[in-house]
Amino acid sequence: MAKKSASNALVAARAEWMRLAAQIDAANLAYHQQDAPEIPDADYDALKARLLALEADFPQLAGADSPSAKVGAPAASGFGKIRHAVPMLSLGNAFDDADVADFITQIRRFLNHDGPLELTAEPKIDGLSLSLRYEDGALVHAATRGDGAEGENVTANARTIAEIPQKIGNAPKVLEVRGEVYLRHDEFATLNERLAAEGQKTLANPRNAAAGSLRQLDASITAARPLRFFAYTWGEVSAPLGATQTGALARLGEFGFKINPLTRLCPDLETLLATYAEIESQRATLGYDIDGVVYKVNDLALQARLGFRTTTPRWAIAHKFPAELATTELLGIDIQVGRTGALSPVARLRPVTVGGVVVSNATLHNADYIAGRDSFGAEIRDGRDIRIGDWVTVYRAGDVIPKIKDVDLARRPDSAVPYIFPTTCPECGSEVLREEGEAVARCTGGLICPAQALEKLRHFVSRSAFDIEGLGAKQIEAFFAEGWVKEPADIFEIEHKYAETLRKRDGWGDKSVAKLVEAINARRSIPLNRLLFALGIRHLGETAGQVLARHYTSWAAFYAAIQAAAPLEGDDWDELNSIDGVGPVLATALVTYFHNAETRASVERLIAHLTVEDVAAPSASSSPVAGKTVVFTGTLARMTRAEAKATAENLGAKVSGSVSAKTDMLVAGPGAGAKLKTAQSLGVQVLSEDEWLALIA
Ligand code: IVH
Repeated sequence: MAKKSASNALVAARAEWMRLAAQIDAANLAYHQQDAPEIPDADYDALKARLLALEADFPQLAGADSPSAKVGAPAASGFGKIRHAVPMLSLGNAFDDADVADFITQIRRFLNHDGPLELTAEPKIDGLSLSLRYEDGALVHAATRGDGAEGENVTANARTIAEIPQKIGNAPKVLEVRGEVYLRHDEFATLNERLAAEGQKTLANPRNAAAGSLRQLDASITAARPLRFFAYTWGEVSAPLGATQTGALARLGEFGFKINPLTRLCPDLETLLATYAEIESQRATLGYDIDGVVYKVNDLALQARLGFRTTTPRWAIAHKFPAELATTELLGIDIQVGRTGALSPVARLRPVTVGGVVVSNATLHNADYIAGRDSFGAEIRDGRDIRIGDWVTVYRAGDVIPKIKDVDLARRPDSAVPYIFPTTCPECGSEVLREEGEAVARCTGGLICPAQALEKLRHFVSRSAFDIEGLGAKQIEAFFAEGWVKEPADIFEIEHKYAETLRKRDGWGDKSVAKLVEAINARRSIPLNRLLFALGIRHLGETAGQVLARHYTSWAAFYAAIQAAAPLEGDDWDELNSIDGVGPVLATALVTYFHNAETRASVERLIAHLTVEDVAAPSASSSPVAGKTVVFTGTLARMTRAEAKATAENLGAKVSGSVSAKTDMLVAGPGAGAKLKTAQSLGVQVLSEDEWLALIA
C-alpha cells in the first residue's frame, strides 16, 4: 500500500514536472531570444523554485533535459558593443506639480539664479532610445542605450529606418544625435495583423514591438517594420549646435530629423504645467504612446553649469502621467528574503492588465504597510489593512514596480483574517528581528540563509556590479542550485572545477562554455567602485561606491582603513565620516560588514582571484586641483556650495566636510570660523573664493 501511494506520488510529480519544464523552456526562449518576456520575473522564479523542489523530492526527475540543468537559452548576442562617447543617461521623475516646483527651486538654488529661467516642455516618447553617430555628415554607427556606458551596435538596423537620415549636409565633423525609436498605433496594429496572418507571434505593445524590431539580427526584418524616430538631444558634437535647447533642436530639424511638434518654450512654472495639461489632453489622440512630459533648461550654458548627478542630468526631468489603476483579487502573500536579510512581503494577484502590462505581483513593503500604518505609526488607507482574499486597486509606480493603492472593504470576504507577519525566516527558519525604529524585519541567518546567499550572488553579477556576460540572475541561480557557486569567489573557479561537466550539459557546448569562461576571466580585473558596490553592503549604492573609490583610490588602502575604523573612533573613523557623501549610517554599515570574520574570509577568497583597478588620480597637468582634498567654508558669493563641490569633483579634487592634516586647501568665504582656525593651525593653504576661481579657471 505504501509502495502504491509512493508510485502515485511519483506519477503526479512527473506530470507536474513536465508541465513546469515546458513553461520554463518557453519563458527562457521568450526572454533570451525574442525580447518579449511572457511572464513576470517573479512568476518565472516561482516556476523554477517549484521545479527544483520537485527534483529535490524526486531526484529521478532531474535529468540532462531538465531546465534546471540549462542556463537560460543561448543569448541572442549577435550584436557588437559600442561604447558611448558621452554616456546615455536617464531622467529623474516628477510625479506631481510640487515635484516640478522643487525641480525648479533646486536649479535656482544650485545656480544661485533669481532671473528669468526658460525651460522647454516636450512629450516623453515611450519607445527605445538610440544614439546615431555622424562623422563628416555620414551615419557611421547607431547604438542602443544599453547600460548607459555601452550599448548594442544596431547600425545595420538603424539604416533601414526612413526617418533616420543616412547623410546630412553642413553638419559638424562629429555629431551624435539621440532620440527615441517608436511605432505609431495604426502601424503597430497593421504589423500585428500581418504577423498573425503569417502565423507568427504578435507583439504585446508598441514599445516592445519597437525594441524587438530594432534588435533583430536580420536587418531585413527591421526594414519590414514601420519604425519611426524623434530626435530630442545629442551626445558628442565637435561644434555647438546652438546656444539654446530650442535652437539646437531647430538645427537638428534642418539636418532632416523629426522634432516633436508639441515642443514648447515656457517662461515659468505655470506655463510648464499648462503645457503638461495640454499634452496630456492630446495623449489619447496623438497616435503614438507617450508617458509624460520632459522639461529641460533652455539655455545650454546653464545646462553645462548644472551638469549631471550619477545617472541623471540636473537640467532636465520627466513629469510622468498618473499611473493607470486596475482592480484585482489578492490571492496570497509571499515573503521574499533579500540579500541583507530583509523580509519583503509580495502580493500574489489574480493577473490583471495595468497600462498594457500584465501584473500578477505587487510590493507590500513591510508588516506596517499591510496593517494600514506608515513607519511612524500614522494611518495609511484610512487604517484599512490588507488581507488575503481582498479586492485591491493596483497601479504601476513610476511605471515599473506594481503597488497596491487601496482595498475595497465592501468586497472583503467574511473568511478574510488579518495577516500575521512571520517571526521566523521562511527560507532558513532563523529568527526574524525587527530593530527598534526600523520598518524592516530581517532574517538573522546571515550566510547560512540560502535566500540571502542567492540574492547576494544575484546582486554581485548585476549590471552595475560585475556584469559578466552570459552569467545573469537566472544562470547564477542555476549554478547556485547545483551547489557550484555558493559565494562570489566560486564564480572564478567554475572554469577549472566545472567547465568539463558543463560542456556535456544540454544547451551548452564547447563554444558557449568557452564564451562564459572568457567573460568571467575578463572580469578578473575590476574597477574598485564596482567591486565595492558588488559586495552588497547595506546602504552602499553605486554613488557611494564611486565616492569611496575616489577617496581611498586602492583596495588595499580602503580595506586597511575600514578595519582600522572598527573602534568607531580615532583618525580612520573620522576620515571615513568626513568623506562627502558618507554619513554615519553608511560608515557604521561598512565597519559592521568588515568586522564579521566570516565575511572577511569570504571577501579575501574573492580578492585572491582579482586585480582590483586603482582609481587613477586625474593627471596633474589636466587640472591644478586633481587629487587634492579641498574643504569649502563660509559664504560663497559667486557660486553655490553644491556647484562649488560639483565643479571641484569634476576637476578631480576630493571635497571633504572637515579640515584635517590631509586637507590640501581650504576655500574660505566671509563668516568662516572654526574650520579656518584649524586650517591655519595645521598650515593648510587657505584661498578666497576669487583665488579658487582663478586657480581653476
Ligand atoms: S532627454 C540626459 N527627451 O526617457 C537624458 N528623453 O527616462 C536626456 N525619452 O533615456 C534624455 N522622450 O529614452 C529625453 N523627449 C525626451 C524623451 C526622452 C523619451 C526617454 C529616453 C530616456 C528616458 C529617461
